[in-house]
Amino acid sequence: MKVSRETINQVRAAVDIVEVIGARLSLSPSGGDRYKALSPFTNEKTPSFIVSRDRQMFHCFSSGRGGDVFGFLMEFEGLSFSEALRKLADQAGIALAPASEQDDREEYLRAQLLELGRFAADFYKRLLADPLPGAPGRDYLSKRALKPETMAKFGLGFAPDQWDALVSAALKRQFKNYVLEASGLFRRGESGGRGLYDFFRNRVIFPIRDISGNVVAFGGRDLGQSPAKYINSPETAVYKKSRVLYGLHEAREGIRAEKFAVLVEGYFDLLRCFDAGITNVVATCGTALTEQQAALIRRYAPKVVLVYDGDAAGVKAALRGSGVLTAAGLEVRALALPDNKDPDDFIREDGADRFREMVKNAPDFVSFYARMNRDRTVTVEGRTEVARELFEMIRHVTDRMKVDGYLDTIERALGLQPWSTRREFERMAAERERGPAAAPGGRTAAAPPEHTPPHRDDLEFVAAVLAYPALLRRAAEACAGLNLPESPFTEVLRALFAAGGAGPAVADSLASDEAKTLWSGAMVDEPPAPDRAEEVVSQRVTALARDAIRREAEGLLAEIARADRDKDWATLRRLQQRKIELDRRRDGLPAA
Ligand code: UTP
Ligand code: MN
Repeated sequence: MKVSRETINQVRAAVDIVEVIGARLSLSPSGGDRYKALSPFTNEKTPSFIVSRDRQMFHCFSSGRGGDVFGFLMEFEGLSFSEALRKLADQAGIALAPASEQDDREEYLRAQLLELGRFAADFYKRLLADPLPGAPGRDYLSKRALKPETMAKFGLGFAPDQWDALVSAALKRQFKNYVLEASGLFRRGESGGRGLYDFFRNRVIFPIRDISGNVVAFGGRDLGQSPAKYINSPETAVYKKSRVLYGLHEAREGIRAEKFAVLVEGYFDLLRCFDAGITNVVATCGTALTEQQAALIRRYAPKVVLVYDGDAAGVKAALRGSGVLTAAGLEVRALALPDNKDPDDFIREDGADRFREMVKNAPDFVSFYARMNRDRTVTVEGRTEVARELFEMIRHVTDRMKVDGYLDTIERALGLQPWSTRREFERMAAERERGPAAAPGGRTAAAPPEHTPPHRDDLEFVAAVLAYPALLRRAAEACAGLNLPESPFTEVLRALFAAGGAGPAVADSLASDEAKTLWSGAMVDEPPAPDRAEEVVSQRVTALARDAIRREAEGLLAEIARADRDKDWATLRRLQQRKIELDRRRDGLPAA
């Protein structure tokens, strides 16, 4: 997509980065025009993610990521630049030409898939409401007894028992064949005809939304005799299963307000909770919980309560899920509902208040797991085995204090000797480090992001010249005409000198990641007090200039000697003049 710089600036000026980020993270005031939050990119414990309203920039000191509002959306929602631009333009009511097929095929396809998702969701929803064809869907849903508001909020629909209901409608709407094929909503027949037929038939339909509310996939519950009670869209260019949680778009506010998320397994479990006014709930819907999903939850709250089925499979899934959540730095509690009820059954039969109470009193995960495995913990061997399963779950936790806390709980819950627990844990952890096989359900080694944090002195310097334009001018004069050595710091400095101050032009002209990190860090950093700024800048500038002069002078001496030998008098004169100039500049510098 070709968009002029003016349009980009216009969109940037029309939105406020604090609002855009504030709608996605809990920001708290951090002095001056700044706000802070826990980094959405790492699992830190003290907030180092800073947003500056005046500068319209963010910087995350723990991951080194930073930038403007577009950069934030790209990182946070995994968008391309033009998708981020489009989204913000939309929000600001600035019209942009739609992505064209010629310009960017991939982006065009993604946009078309979202368009088709909207269309299909609408189609299924209308069908559900349609007197005759929608009757089976409505009959089924009336048995499940959800409030109309709940069904509307989640856009429930109905796919009739036909092979071509959606495909004909979509073709009539001029969706291209390759878009339909890429959507996962259709299958290709073995013989003849147009080839495509509907994937979802005779099912109640659950649109699956991404975090921004786009319909990216569907789930469908069978109403007939299909062996698959539920089916789900396959992955597509807009649907990555590992990055989506059912209900998160709707639950974000609830999770933030309650400061914890309830994690359930099924569509109806989640819908039932919402129906009962419990809105801090997300569902995994048949997929094993991933590190990315855990990170998504962590953006909104530090705690999770798992409410999985109490059968053996449910408890195993809960153990695996807890490992992933714990490794992501979340505090995990878990519970199994009595009589093998799922949340849907339980709320219907025992009421939402009982459910809330169970959730409120849910034990920490270790105690839960020990209790669920009571039968095995009567023997020493059994206890050791259960302990090992729990070790597996906590071995990815990086916070040593937390690990100690978990080990304490394991000892207490299983009645083990402290020294033996710890020794056994260390032994197993060491063994796992060496072994090639990844632990079942454990995350694949999450390498910390490659990131060299900006040097404190560099940050302070840049923040100082940003805050005090006179210092920037003085630095620019002192460095004018000198060859500064190459470094991220001087890269930023040169860009600043060229732009004459803070502005989008600076970020645009930076090439290295280190320079960009330094730039966004300095932009959101608290500027030093005037005296301090003066001191920091003049000392550093003097040192820089002295160094540049010394290096150039050394080179000059060699060149002068050569010109003298070659009897190249014109060059010699020029070089000597430069040398004199440099000596004068050096003498003019303040004493070190
Ligand atoms: P359950 O089998 O526990 O079903 O699957 P449920 O949610 O209680 O469904 P109802 O109440 O009988 O309608 C839990 C979740 O696992 C996924 C679905 O997301 C389901 O909601 N699942 C289940 C599948 O993806 N495929 C299946 O065949 C079954
Ligand atoms: Mn159920």
